[in-house]
Amino acid sequence: MGFVLLSGSGHPTLAGELASALGTSLGAVVCERFPDGEPAIEVNCEVRGESVYVVQPLNAPVGERLLELALLADACRRSGAARVTAVIPYLGYARQDRRELGREPLGARVMAELLAAGRIDRLVCLDLHSRAIEGCFPQPVEHCSALPALSKRLLATLKRPAVVISPDLGAVKRAQAFAKALSLPVAIVHKHRSSGSQVEATGVVGEVKGLTPVVVDDIISTGGTMVAAIRAVLDAGAVGPVTVAASHGLFVGPAYERLRGVPIERVVVSDSVPVPPGAPFTVDVVSTADALAEAVRRLER
Ligand code: R5P
Repeated sequence: MGFVLLSGSGHPTLAGELASALGTSLGAVVCERFPDGEPAIEVNCEVRGESVYVVQPLNAPVGERLLELALLADACRRSGAARVTAVIPYLGYARQDRRELGREPLGARVMAELLAAGRIDRLVCLDLHSRAIEGCFPQPVEHCSALPALSKRLLATLKRPAVVISPDLGAVKRAQAFAKALSLPVAIVHKHRSSGSQVEATGVVGEVKGLTPVVVDDIISTGGTMVAAIRAVLDAGAVGPVTVAASHGLFVGPAYERLRGVPIERVVVSDSVPVPPGAPFTVDVVSTADALAEAVRRLER
């Protein structure tokens, strides 16, 4: 396989692990800042005629990561790369996939247009917030998942009898897939979001009484959804402490503070973004390098 793998500033550790999984090393790039704060990007390895992969999750600061990815792709293009593939283990803006209030932007579409400015040919993404987001991109999207690795990590140690909890209606399919892998039933929490960081649970559908909950979501951001779901199922008779699993552990703002307030036995997330320091519990991180490497191998066949 002949290709070049580069990393933006989003998650160099994961990019390095992906390179190892593919039996290669990262090409040299410079991602620095000009004195006025503009990104200063330079690709310091040969990319002419090559298939180039740029690894960059869109974790915070999201806008800067996005721009850096487009600039890296543009640098590769202008240096003669044959093809540029963006490997985006966490796709930010994916939750802005519809307009709900009226005078809002369609953030996911704008994000896709900005990436298009870098003339990216293809994308490799992991556990997109919704598969419909693919429709925002003119490029083909390879979709990988951390769910098999997450469920495998839980399988041996799970306290049974247990139940997989979908913390909202949008996460039901994901929870069903997870439940199938763990041979468990599913229950669903009804969630109402009143702002970006405030949610409330309005009910639980399905049997949870006497069962240990495994709450599965795609993203833990401020922790509001998780905490609301955990409280709702415990109020409905589930037995704590609970297990929490998510593909993307962003843990922003009040997340750690909030999650500290509920009985959690275990938190398992993937390494799609670096886990911020200061977690008040042990965060078990599963690697996505193999799943991403498999996608790269498929594309290079
Ligand atoms: C929402 O639809 C997502 O699947 C997550 O439930 C949500 O983004 C988590 O955000 P937070 O942790 O801030 O509640």
